[in-house]
Amino acid sequence: MKIAVTGGAGFIGSNFIFHMLKAHPEDRVICLDKLTYAGNLSTLASVMDNPNFHFVKLDICDREGVYKLFEEEHPDMVVNFAAESHVDRSIENPEIFLQTNIIGTSVLMNACRKYGIQRYHQVSTDEVYGDLPLDRPNLFFTETTPIHTSSPYSSSKAGADLLVLAYHRTYGLPVTISRCSNNYGPYHFPEKLIPLMIINALHDKPLPVYGDGLNVRDWLYVEDHCRAIDLILQKGKVGEIYNVGGHNEMRNIDIVKLICKELGKPERLITHVTDRKGHDRRYAIDPTKIYNELEWLPETKFADGIKKTIKWYLENQEWWENIVNGEYQGYYERMYGRR
Ligand SMILES: NC(=O)c1ccc[n+]([C@@H]2O[C@H](COP(=O)([O-])OP(=O)(O)OC[C@H]3O[C@@H](n4cnc5c(N)ncnc54)[C@H](O)[C@@H]3O)[C@@H](O)[C@H]2O)c1
Repeated sequence: MKIAVTGGAGFIGSNFIFHMLKAHPEDRVICLDKLTYAGNLSTLASVMDNPNFHFVKLDICDREGVYKLFEEEHPDMVVNFAAESHVDRSIENPEIFLQTNIIGTSVLMNACRKYGIQRYHQVSTDEVYGDLPLDRPNLFFTETTPIHTSSPYSSSKAGADLLVLAYHRTYGLPVTISRCSNNYGPYHFPEKLIPLMIINALHDKPLPVYGDGLNVRDWLYVEDHCRAIDLILQKGKVGEIYNVGGHNEMRNIDIVKLICKELGKPERLITHVTDRKGHDRRYAIDPTKIYNELEWLPETKFADGIKKTIKWYLENQEWWENIVNGEYQGYYERMYGRR
């Protein structure tokens, strides 16, 4: 099987590539990534020499480039992680989100139609469902919850999901979609909540928490998400959406306090800052369908996952220091620019 993974130099895509190369050593994985500010090729250093892995620097919106790649490689499956993924950035500059997340998705699917594909999988998010009130803890997102987005990011992801379903209905493209809750784990870009707090705490810097910090997210260890996508590729039903979540709801403020405790840092580092515009209050996934149909269950408990994650950031300081000081952006040129 030949699998094209877009956005594989990012957080979840890279973890997915590691998972696939380990779980399916007979498969060939091709990573397509534009290497935006969020893509870091050094993340993939450990697999660069694997004969079953191939990296291509490519923008998924580049129709000619994508078609050329399909013509040469004829992938059997495409898993689309490539996206602009940071809500705050989407509030500052929505257009690039529409470009990559919607137009890029359509370019990939058009290539799939032209060259044929066994499966196109769209990696989506629980944010397409909008948010839930804090005082109704028995409410969860199911796959039939109406789309009701809050930010330009979630709206662009929802637009892509609708397009993916339309390509299935209209052209019979064999698609699946997964909508996952918040991920955490190794290689998470330092601007996101958990790595940001770990890194700031290590430097005894203020820990900026939006608003009252009571916003609730359902956190899932990244490897569990990768296993879920792998299962959907193997056993998922074409045309279906699968919610992926861990029934692990945590308030932002409690996560930050836990990180302080694990690192032996004082909670007085916590600083409440002006809330994000339109900040969603609570996300909570009902993962019953993927459990019933594909027997997927998360394996990593949050208490263990957060310890593993903190340990990883402590042991891989060079990785995130290069991001924090901007060094990582020249990595591709230095390593591969003249090859
Ligand atoms: N992080 C989460 O908690 C979470 C939860 C649910 C769903 N998702 C979804 O999972 C996917 C991956 O998220 P992530 O957190 O790993 O994101 P990320 O920002 O860490 O990585 C995104 C990757 O996509 C690449 N990319 C961006 N624009 C591109 C383009 N035009 N062409 C090719 N590559 C491009 C970047 O270089 C980067 O490597 C996204 O689609 C996101 O919506 C993320």
